[in-house]
Amino acid sequence: MKELKIALIGFGGIARAHYAGYTLLKQKNAPLSLVAVCDINPDQLTREIKINTSTKPVTLPSDMHTYTDVDALIANEDFDMADICLPTYLHKEYTVKLLRAGKHVLCEKPMALTSAECEEMLVASRESGKKLMIGQCLRFDTSYLHLKDAIDSGKYGKLKALTMNRLSALPIWGFEQWFRNTSKSGGCILDMHIHDIDMARFLLGEPEAVSTVSYDGETRWQWENTRLFYKDVIISINGSWDETRGTAFVADFRAVFEKATIMRAPDGHAVLWQENEEPVDLPKITEYCYAEEIHYFAKTILEELPNTVNSPESACATVKLVEALRESAAQDGQKRPYVLQ
Ligand SMILES: NC(=O)c1ccc[n+]([C@@H]2O[C@H](COP(=O)([O-])OP(=O)(O)OC[C@H]3O[C@@H](n4cnc5c(N)ncnc54)[C@H](O)[C@@H]3O)[C@@H](O)[C@H]2O)c1
Repeated sequence: MKELKIALIGFGGIARAHYAGYTLLKQKNAPLSLVAVCDINPDQLTREIKINTSTKPVTLPSDMHTYTDVDALIANEDFDMADICLPTYLHKEYTVKLLRAGKHVLCEKPMALTSAECEEMLVASRESGKKLMIGQCLRFDTSYLHLKDAIDSGKYGKLKALTMNRLSALPIWGFEQWFRNTSKSGGCILDMHIHDIDMARFLLGEPEAVSTVSYDGETRWQWENTRLFYKDVIISINGSWDETRGTAFVADFRAVFEKATIMRAPDGHAVLWQENEEPVDLPKITEYCYAEEIHYFAKTILEELPNTVNSPESACATVKLVEALRESAAQDGQKRPYVLQ
């Protein structure tokens, strides 16, 4: 297989960001090509959608193959990989379907609504022999990669404290308002807080103990404050779907090391602060996280490489950690020892 043929399934908010990724990868002559787009609602193919991570309006090329039904896509289209951008409650069903149809699958985060569903997806991947990756996009984002490098290399000394924030108003762009239905989205804790929970695991592995307080609003799990306890450091994470509509979306971190502090700026780049020195903008490591995650997954398929950055087993473990946070929140934030089961 010289070039990977890809079908994008679900053309709503985040699919626009993936589409921008495909456009960028095409400009760079990456060995992959988006051959089809499928959405149950044909109006989605032309509609402009504004999401938190702003994306530009899209006009699909006139020769793009389009479908409104996934079974018709599978029956009629020649493709190697499915890029699933469907609402969370459909992730398990369609990932399993596409894997069993012989396609590699990149599925958006969160992996699924429950860890039991995630396990079913892992089984389908193993049994079909097809690769699966979950779109934990921060693992491909330049500012978080600087943070990981600083922790792994120890170049600024030990990490003393890390605070991460991801704050927005309740999403209102979704298909049939699925974000607002907790049984379909899992609430902010599973939909948005999970980005930073996964990042904590990417940086430092499993915590020794956890504590989460939360409150409900229009949805269950509308706001969360989590502490993840590691041997030498506490990570503090805030997640909100309860901001005043119209306020700026916040996705940032502040990492205090013995000899420096690294912050994520509102435009997504990383800034390094050292004592008695002017702050420095750190250079880009990756250009666009969605392009990077697609490119990385395609490379693992085309070159038959193991996925060492973002395995589906790790995405499943992140959902398990969110389940432990919910248990702590149900007991008013009780600090609970944590061991990955
Ligand atoms: N990685 C990120 O930064 C990020 C950001 C936003 C959303 N997400 C995740 O991406 C997923 C999708 O979120 P979204 O904001 O794009 O939602 P959305 O509702 O905007 O888009 C979903 C699309 O799927 C289509 N659809 C629904 N049922 C379908 C079916 N049976 N067959 C074909 N198409 C169908 C809808 O018409 C809609 O266009 C969610 O899991 C969400 O958590 C990730």
